[in-house]
Amino acid sequence: MNIGIVGGGAVGLLLAAYLGRRHEVTVYTRRPSQARELAEHGVALKTDGKTSVVAVRAQPFAGAELDEPLVFVTVKQYDLAAVCAQIDAFRRVRTLVFLQNGMGHLEQLSVFADKNVLVGVVEHGALKLDDRTVAHTGVGKLTLASCYGSLGDARELRDGESGFPIEWADDWERILVNKLVVNAVINPLTALLQVKNGALLEMAPYRDMMRQLFDEVQKVLPLDDANRAWERVVHICRKTADNYSSMYMDLANGRRTEIDAILGYVLKQGEARGVTLPVARFVFSAVKGKERGMVDG
Ligand code: PAF
Repeated sequence: MNIGIVGGGAVGLLLAAYLGRRHEVTVYTRRPSQARELAEHGVALKTDGKTSVVAVRAQPFAGAELDEPLVFVTVKQYDLAAVCAQIDAFRRVRTLVFLQNGMGHLEQLSVFADKNVLVGVVEHGALKLDDRTVAHTGVGKLTLASCYGSLGDARELRDGESGFPIEWADDWERILVNKLVVNAVINPLTALLQVKNGALLEMAPYRDMMRQLFDEVQKVLPLDDANRAWERVVHICRKTADNYSSMYMDLANGRRTEIDAILGYVLKQGEARGVTLPVARFVFSAVKGKERGMVDG
């Protein structure tokens, strides 16, 4: 099958490396130089100290007309509006899969309601090392659920595809909320405190902060069971103890973070319900301040 991947970040490259083993993959990048690099040399995947290279096609997204039936959109949430604005580029696409964090972007997806639209949650550890190299730092799974239409062309992605497990879920809202809770608690705290995920559990004062933030977040998100949600946060923190969160990495590399999509979304839910969330507000502002200092200065 022909598969398109919009975005040449860590997730886009990871998908290209695994799906490219069995399918014809085209990566659509923001920078023409990255597209050239990928088309000439392929995607390099580093796992357990070994590197494998997978050939892919690549071209810049700007001005492209995608003709793959199945396309994954892997750009960060704050870049999604620009991608969705190029709606004509997707005219021939039948099935779109969106892999953004947070939930604030869901309204934007309604412009594609005449297609099969899926959303997904990536639980793999992936680190982009350069424009064509990605390290697979933790094997997890990709969970997908249909949001508009059916699973469409995504049905052809078999579970366990090339060592890259794919799981199917019925309830798209549930998978996104569950991921949002984890990201809302772990990411901003690790980024602010400049620690690996595991430190949040090891140090009693950090664990306390984690619990306070969780207690506020769970008040405004539609969770079935808050205790299980807390257990999930702790479990993922433990499982990824040795990782730096994506928000930590964004700040460390002077990049914009996804704080608006994650805690910003939670705060908006609080406002809509008339619930004040002082801890979440404090953490949100602290990350915004740090982000501004690092991105601008
Ligand atoms: O965004 C991240 O870094 C990850 O989703 C997670 C699970 C918090 C682990 O670092």
